[in-house]
Amino acid sequence: MEEEELEQILDKYRAAGRILIEVREGVLKLVKEGESLLRVAEFVESGIAAKGGEPAFPCNISRNEEAAHATPSVNDATVFSADDVVKIDLGVHIDGYIADSAVTVDLSGEHEELVRASEMALNEAIKIIHDGVTTSEIGEVIGNTIKECGYKPIVNLSGHGLLRYDSHAPPTIPNVRYEQGVRLKANDVIAIEPFATDGGGKVVESGNVEIYSLKKEKPVRMREARKLLGAIRKYKGLPFARRWLPQERLNLALRSLKSAGILREYPVLKEEDKGLVSQAEHTVIIKEDGCEIITARNRV
Ligand code: CO
Repeated sequence: MEEEELEQILDKYRAAGRILIEVREGVLKLVKEGESLLRVAEFVESGIAAKGGEPAFPCNISRNEEAAHATPSVNDATVFSADDVVKIDLGVHIDGYIADSAVTVDLSGEHEELVRASEMALNEAIKIIHDGVTTSEIGEVIGNTIKECGYKPIVNLSGHGLLRYDSHAPPTIPNVRYEQGVRLKANDVIAIEPFATDGGGKVVESGNVEIYSLKKEKPVRMREARKLLGAIRKYKGLPFARRWLPQERLNLALRSLKSAGILREYPVLKEEDKGLVSQAEHTVIIKEDGCEIITARNRV
């Protein structure tokens, strides 16, 4: 790739990161006891659009033992409770180039250490990143930091690479040490996202699905399904929320696309022991001697 072309691409990642930072700062002020989850998700998603980006995926608002993939349903009336541990995971893309970041808000004020465990793990991981670092070295630092804080890393959730219109590209960035590491190189863009818990350290799928993506285009015959397929093509394979879709006969159309193998589902992931979960996430560009954090004001 030409140097100039590479810089243009990296600048799109950086622009997505700047929008994400502003929206994240706004949403942190909004998450309070009694506030509606739907209002918060809409604040994030419309805020991204108002600033010239597009949501790379629906705003995830996962609470307590939920670790990921929770997002409000259409007309959702759920509000935050006084003791919620809230994970807000948001993504912005510009022309398909994605910035991905998450923060945890502890509304009770009683789980500061749990929140700090994932934040510290993220910071320690960022410190060792440079051209040539392996994903197993990153996983080891994340896992050890969380354990030193007295918690468990969630072993079956991980960070990931980012590619154009691909919010979960290889390589996997594990939250524990593992054998088959991949060597990262300068200008790779990755998201690092440690999860800490006071439970067993594993998530399981719950039955709830509000997020989908287009897995594979296939011809469909049912009129409703064809219409829905037309509506979801515009996300170009990125995840979307059920509440973003035209609601008329939606369940029927979704079922049809699902059974044809066209849709991927993202069920809500919960900690297996109902442990509380905290999460911290940044997107970084790997550099020769470090990395550039595109989702933080302090980029290095
Ligand atoms: Co991510």
